[in-house]
Order: sequence, then structure tokens, then C-alpha cells
Amino acid sequence: MIFPEWTIGNTIIYAFLALAAISVGPLEYFGRAMMAYSKFRPASGISTRAGMVILYSAPLAALVVSALSYLSSPTTIQWIVFASVFIHFAKRVLESLFVHKYSGPIGVFTTLMIAGFYSLAAFIIGWLNRMPLQTMDTWFYLGMALFVLGIIGNFIQHKRLAELRKDSMEYKIPSGGLFDYVVCPHYLFEIITWLGIFLLSRHLGALLVLIFITAYLSTRSIRTLAWYREKFKDFPADRKGIIPFVL
Ligand SMILES: NC(=O)c1ccc[n+]([C@@H]2O[C@H](COP(=O)([O-])OP(=O)(O)OC[C@H]3O[C@@H](n4cnc5c(N)ncnc54)[C@H](OP(=O)(O)O)[C@@H]3O)[C@@H](O)[C@H]2O)c1
Repeated sequence: MIFPEWTIGNTIIYAFLALAAISVGPLEYFGRAMMAYSKFRPASGISTRAGMVILYSAPLAALVVSALSYLSSPTTIQWIVFASVFIHFAKRVLESLFVHKYSGPIGVFTTLMIAGFYSLAAFIIGWLNRMPLQTMDTWFYLGMALFVLGIIGNFIQHKRLAELRKDSMEYKIPSGGLFDYVVCPHYLFEIITWLGIFLLSRHLGALLVLIFITAYLSTRSIRTLAWYREKFKDFPADRKGIIPFVL
């Protein structure tokens, strides 16, 4: 793990990140950090497609700005770390445009909040990448494998969700593949993607981003499971939120 120099500035930044990572789970669980989109969307707002494109494009810009000092001649490791974060957000822009079928708006505040968090996460990882790992060790190769697995798995689940909307924009009970076990397999693969990015970067900042995302998505999957149980009386009782048979 690569730790920062513990200057006063860094200590404040890392304390803020740690606090956010620890508190986002409980806040989401008790409905204090619910992002107002999808099943928990507000009655009015902006087009979800537009909102998603904005909130996934902003981190791409933040990433490029954070990497300006080494982008002209990166080491192989710097290039891989940069590319992993870039590919993740670029994929999400493209999925928002061409894969997802949204049935309503997204809140403006939510759009700005998520854009801000993603931009901060992308900037931190891009900025820390000025001082990358010196060599590619076993964990680095595992990171590459997990990143690819996460990206592909996440995309496949998004395709399955979009296929539910072939005939109508109503919500349906998803099924097939991992959806037979959990309601949010796409979140599971998103976490695997960020685990991969952390193993590639190996900076403490990237670990805090991973913890934040894991806590947020795990609790949102619990809320999503509760939403399905309430909406569909015939909802399978043994289905979980994000980890088959466990959570
Ligand atoms: N890194 C993070 O912190 C983070 C957080 C959240 C999301 N994400 C990423 O964004 C991706 C999408 O997340 P999300 O929260 O938007 O997922 P989601 O709420 O499951 O929605 C994904 C898409 O599927 C549709 N959908 C969901 N459930 C459906 C159902 N039962 N029947 C028909 N259509 C359904 C949604 O339509 P509606 O819009 O009409 O609901 C939306 O178009 C995640 O997989 C992840 O990659 C990342």
C-alpha cells in the first residue's frame, strides 16, 4: 500500500475521505443519503439520460486534468491505472446513452452530488498516479483480471435490465444468471471493477474510494431488495441484495 506524506493538508483530506467512507453506509441505510434516481427518483427533475451523461463525463474531465503532468509520457503502470479509470467512466457514458432505458427523471441535486463524488474519486486516483507502483506484482495482475471481469460482468447485467424494457417501461422482477440470486448483480460487478482499480493503483486514497463505493452499493442493494419485496407480492423470498446467499 502506498501511503501519503502525513502533512496537515493530506491528513484533513484523508480524514474527510475516511469519514465519508464510514458514514455513507449508515446514511444510505436510514434514507439520509438516498440518491434520487431510478426506483427512488423524485416526481420531477431532469432527463435521467442527460443527468447520467453529465455525471459520468465530469469525472473523465477531472481524471484528464489530474493526469496532465504525466500524460504525455506515462510509465506502463501509470498508463494502465489511468486507462482503467477512463474506461470505466467512458463505458458508463456510453451505457447511459445507448444501453439503459430510463423510465423517469433524476433529481438535479442528486446529479450534482454524484458528479462531484465521481469527479473527486477520479481526480484523486489520477493525481496519486503521479507516484505509481514501481513494479507489476501478482496483486497488480489480479487487479487487471478483476477490472476486466467487473467491466464485462457489469455490462452484461445492464443489458439484462434493458431487455426487461423490450415491451413496456414498467418495472419487472429481473431473472436469469445472477439475477436469480440477487437483485443487484450489476452493483457486485461495479465493486469488483473498483477492487481491480485499487489493486492497480494501491494508494490509500483508492482504497478509501473502494470502501465508500462498496458501502454505498451494498446498502443501496438492501434498500432495492426491500423495494422489490414491497412492490411485488410474489417476489422470491430467498433472493438477496448483492451477494448470493449472503447479503
Ligand atoms: N460507483 C458507485 O457508487 C455507483 C453507484 C450507483 C450506480 N453505479 C453504476 O451505475 C450502474 C447503474 O446503477 P443504477 O443504480 O442506475 O441501477 P438501477 O437502478 O438498477 O438501474 C439501471 C437501469 O435498469 C433499469 N431497471 C432497474 N430495475 C429494473 C426493473 N426491475 N425492471 C426494468 N428496468 C429496471 C433502470 O430503469 P429506471 O431508471 O427506470 O429505474 C435503469 O435504466 C451500476 O450498475 C453501477 O455500474 C455506480
